Amino acid sequence: MALKTKTLSEQVAVVTGGGTGIGRAFAGALAGAGTRVVIASRREKVLRRTAAELNEAAGAERVFPYAFDVRERGACEALVSHAVERHGALDVLVNNSGLAVPETIEELTEDGWDKVLETNLKGAMWLVRAALPEMTRRDFGDIVNVSSQAGKNGYADVPSYCASKWGLLGFAESVRDHARKTGANVRVFNFFPGLVDVENTTPEASPRPGSVHVSNMARTLLYALSLDREVVLEDINIYAR
Ligand SMILES: NC(=O)c1ccc[n+]([C@@H]2O[C@H](COP(=O)([O-])OP(=O)(O)OC[C@H]3O[C@@H](n4cnc5c(N)ncnc54)[C@H](OP(=O)(O)O)[C@@H]3O)[C@@H](O)[C@H]2O)c1
Repeated sequence: MALKTKTLSEQVAVVTGGGTGIGRAFAGALAGAGTRVVIASRREKVLRRTAAELNEAAGAERVFPYAFDVRERGACEALVSHAVERHGALDVLVNNSGLAVPETIEELTEDGWDKVLETNLKGAMWLVRAALPEMTRRDFGDIVNVSSQAGKNGYADVPSYCASKWGLLGFAESVRDHARKTGANVRVFNFFPGLVDVENTTPEASPRPGSVHVSNMARTLLYALSLDREVVLEDINIYAR
């Protein structure tokens, strides 16, 4: 039996960290394709401004700001409930919120380690934990994790960041195995970007040497989501040559 499918214009997405950088580019591309997008992070003012700008660009109200802290389990659960209750579903969850605390092994602090692991890894886990039953119930869902080349390599200046992004890969593999074993129509995509220029973002801007223009991330997301549900595409390495 063919797997259930939906066009992007029928879908509801949550993009964490959608007010800035890569998340903003993802949200803009999804809204352009007709998806209703909840952008969620801590700074409400930033989210509101981004939503207004992306809605103006899309010519319709498709981007909705939602203030939350991914480090709080209750806030993650409330975000998923909000998407489902307010917008009717949660079809695409983009775990994009993230940060780095540059501390070498010799400088590591408990605060720095916890901040990075809780934001980049534990928060994504709570969101998936809350979203997966909703996706399974509706027999449709995509989970997109923004890891990093630091999720495949180790770098001496950011060991906690590397640990969090490698951890995200391990967690994603477990979600995939869960979906395979339960037969859930849920795909998991991981992005492993190298440097992405999140400052020179206008279409005509040249990215800094060694960085990718952020629009490539957005185009790759739309491409990945558009594949037939029977196709497996899992890990996306994307970086400047
Ligand atoms: N740019 C690159 O070169 C690059 C390369 C590889 C991977 N990445 C990954 O790409 C993702 C996006 O990064 P970016 O480059 O676009 O940088 P960014 O603009 O700083 O985006 C990070 C986002 O995370 C949100 N965030 C941070 N802490 C949060 C919290 N506690 N709760 C909720 N949201 C939180 C921030 O929003 P608030 O401050 O409003 O909460 C912000 O919108 C990150 O996961 C990063 O690790 C980036």
